[in-house]
Amino acid sequence: MPMLKGKDMATLPVIENAWLTINEGKIEGFGEMKSLTDEIRGSAVEQHDVAGRFVFPSWVDSHTHIVYAGNRESEFVDRIKGLSYAEIAAKGGGILNSASKLAGESEEALLEAAFHRLDEVMAQGTGAVEIKSGYGLTVDNEMKILRVIRKLSDMHPLRIKSTLLGAHAIPAEFKNNKSAYINLVIDEMIPRVAQEGLAEYIDVFCEANYFDVEDTHRILEAGVKHGLKPKTHVNQFTILGGVKASIDHGAISVDHLEELGEADITALLSSTTIPVALPLCSLFLSIPYTPGRRLIDAGLPLALASDYNPGSSPSGNMNLAVALACIKMRLTPEEAINAATINGAAAIELLSEMGSIAVGNRASFFITEPVPSFAYLPYSFGANHVDKVYI
Ligand code: NIG
Ligand code: FE
Repeated sequence: MPMLKGKDMATLPVIENAWLTINEGKIEGFGEMKSLTDEIRGSAVEQHDVAGRFVFPSWVDSHTHIVYAGNRESEFVDRIKGLSYAEIAAKGGGILNSASKLAGESEEALLEAAFHRLDEVMAQGTGAVEIKSGYGLTVDNEMKILRVIRKLSDMHPLRIKSTLLGAHAIPAEFKNNKSAYINLVIDEMIPRVAQEGLAEYIDVFCEANYFDVEDTHRILEAGVKHGLKPKTHVNQFTILGGVKASIDHGAISVDHLEELGEADITALLSSTTIPVALPLCSLFLSIPYTPGRRLIDAGLPLALASDYNPGSSPSGNMNLAVALACIKMRLTPEEAINAATINGAAAIELLSEMGSIAVGNRASFFITEPVPSFAYLPYSFGANHVDKVYI
């Protein structure tokens, strides 16, 4: 199934009164009840009646940072008391706080904590996730995170994709020598990660006080040279030109976009890069929501992801992300559901396996409690109507 953009996002194909068969982990067939033959029914070894419920393709969460150590609820309280995300970062909190917590954590402990988070989002209907490194900030610790991601991918039923985000923040030791850290990322981190096949994508946090457009160009170029495909953090707080820079290197997606200029839209329109919105991050940090309505009205695709991480979105709840996209970004339920399924799959190159109910796709779906309509899901926000999950 192809990704959806612009007006096409408004249509969510629904079959009322349907059957669905699965075999050897894949969707084998589906259709209207009247097309269910005695032969298909007779060959089923197990049957489930799901009358009154919806069967959804699993959410595809194309942007998370779920391998981390400890939590940052004290920063959360600092923000309530008036400090900004930038002020907290400037006094050693933020990403650097998570990096020092992670440095002292064993691979086993990281694995156990992340495994538990995957179980949690699976129960909420998520069937595939992208996971970034980025709380290591040394060659060894970034590789430690990526090895944990590989183990998760081997051990956990969810479908997992892996991204190197060595350029997530400038480590304290490089505070006055950012280019030395970028050289380390380019000369050591990227080649070693690529050589061991530990990541498929390269990410950069392109933002004031983190990495500028020039840094982004250098890092993405090095990543691409080693076979890593760009997926970037851009325009979260500041428009620097990271959207265009990412597109220039053939980015699969550009994520965040809470701030968005006309030039960004123009650049996206002449690319195949997918904009990804992270409404849980906007909610948690009280920052603007990505102008999803504007992106879709411009004819662009849009994907929704959770950004699950300890600092800006300590939640991976895609049901809430879908509700917020409707409530705060003015997406219709059809658009939001497409953004969290098929377009999420496009943003991590899983269209041939995930994101839709299609013959041959992975049998990865969830069944809701009895609900009156699919619009009822985002409408009754905050409730969990996911009853059963099949992976
Ligand atoms: O996507 N923006 C950069 N990275 C994360 C947050 C990281 C953190 O605060 O730990 C994000 O929001
Ligand atoms: Fe992120």
